[in-house]
Amino acid sequence: MDEPHRPALRSAQWYGGEDRNAYIHRAWMRRGLPDSAFRGRPQIAIANTASALTPCNAHLGEVAQSVSNGVYEAGGIPLELPVVSLGETQVRPTAMLWRNMAAMATEEMLRANPVDGVVLLGGCDKTIPALLMAAASVDLPALVVPGGPMLTGHFRNEALGCGTDVWRLSEEVRAGTLSQEMFLRSESAMVRSKGHCNTMGTASTMALVAEALGTVPPGLAGTPAPDARLLEGAHDAGRLAVELVASDRRPSTFLTRASFHNAIVALAAIGGSTNAVVHLLAIAGRLGIDLTLDDVDRIGADIPLLVNLQPAGRFLMDDLFRAGGLLAVLREVRDLLDPTALTVDGKPLVDHLDDARIWDAEVIAARDAPFGERAGIRVLRGSLAPDGAIIKPAAASPHLLRHRGPAVVFDSIEDFRARIDDPALEIDEDSVMVLRGCGPRGYPGMPEVANMPLPRRLLERGVRDIVRVCDGRMSGTAYGTVVLHVAPESAAGGPLGLVRTGDMISLDVEAGILDLEVPADELAAREPDPRTVGAYAAPVRGWARLYVDHVQQADRGADLDVLVGGSGSDVTRESH
Ligand code: FES
Repeated sequence: MDEPHRPALRSAQWYGGEDRNAYIHRAWMRRGLPDSAFRGRPQIAIANTASALTPCNAHLGEVAQSVSNGVYEAGGIPLELPVVSLGETQVRPTAMLWRNMAAMATEEMLRANPVDGVVLLGGCDKTIPALLMAAASVDLPALVVPGGPMLTGHFRNEALGCGTDVWRLSEEVRAGTLSQEMFLRSESAMVRSKGHCNTMGTASTMALVAEALGTVPPGLAGTPAPDARLLEGAHDAGRLAVELVASDRRPSTFLTRASFHNAIVALAAIGGSTNAVVHLLAIAGRLGIDLTLDDVDRIGADIPLLVNLQPAGRFLMDDLFRAGGLLAVLREVRDLLDPTALTVDGKPLVDHLDDARIWDAEVIAARDAPFGERAGIRVLRGSLAPDGAIIKPAAASPHLLRHRGPAVVFDSIEDFRARIDDPALEIDEDSVMVLRGCGPRGYPGMPEVANMPLPRRLLERGVRDIVRVCDGRMSGTAYGTVVLHVAPESAAGGPLGLVRTGDMISLDVEAGILDLEVPADELAAREPDPRTVGAYAAPVRGWARLYVDHVQQADRGADLDVLVGGSGSDVTRESH
């Protein structure tokens, strides 16, 4: 009656055999499970980032149930595993401070437990990157089910883009063109349904990029959270997870440099978030793939913008889904994709593009009529960013992509807030706002503050964009001519810490240059201001201390140096 134990299953190391330890592992798990549950059936963890404090992921319990049904139907045993969750809008000082902690905790819990494979449920910005970093390092068979974007909300008959319209409306209030009362009345319309932000922010970007990488079942990413097809896809993903274990399809077996090539092509074509760059670099680092900023620039720079979504365009994620979704976009750039890259179902990504169609050309453009040329995130280098910085041209003002102007320096985001509307601040549309102390180590955690609001008096004059430079990040929902991720950051001794108000800065996006026009000998003679070298609230204990001591710079994905690479899934020593 009983099937023999299958030694090939990792979980058999816990449940196989007749000795005392196997007895303990089985007995405490039984609680109604039949004996067959421990005999040759793949144990599939469902790593779930559902949390009431991560509102974008709060519905993932329902998605997990559909995954469970699929796992069980295919002969596996589903095991829900709550993992660290990060609500982008809720946690202070920034969710990025804990992306690596979430990845580390998930990696260790997957390794420590008797699981053979895992379905990763994420949504809000850092959750899918953290889950993928974990899965890459533990290298168990794994796939991602993104929780999906929310539906479009409306206010006064206008669609509201989550995040993007918060920035836009708050700027309108500062400019005096929208009343405070109307601004606050829009608040309850901003988030219409379950799901993550509906613009092409970081959550949407990372779900689509994870599919282009090959880690999401093709066609699933971007399915709106309330759409019944998400649960159908989750059910099928549960079945696929059991198949992954049977075929031993682990991240290291199908995630290659070619997968990252395709992810960068997709990132550019969708006009995705700049945050994807640090996340892709970090995931690649876990796999031992030497991906660099220059790869991002080289592969993505010439890709046209094919998706008309906020913040670079007009529409929102449920529009992208009805218009054909990611596969319709990728079909347009099929010749630029690496045909060797596989997806989690074992087939090449490009094999999934034959049936894809554009159903609304206002949302997804054909290759020969793109919404913009050369949409990829560009990498800048120069005397102000020796190890690189990035800019998203699709979200910038074309007239500022080549610019030279005097710096107006802020030593922290608090310094910025205290002085930006000071009438004595000398600033105009030619100025370059510089914000430092916001890098991985200096803040710490690299917050999304780089898209500094403009001074009220410039807004009132109708100015809507000036050049900004920062060692922090910006929200994927934000826009503007913003140079981000400057490396090394000021707290790591980068030249950003030496800039003085009035120094000339030159930006040339086409040439990939960000220069501080101060002679090298004069710069060498300057002492960095102590406020720029991480003195602000320097952590003395706990995770923040570990983070500051080990975090790498943005050009390396801001992962901890001790987390780069993988440890695999072997644990040979028993617990009793
Ligand atoms: Fe969660 Fe935007 S706040 S995705």
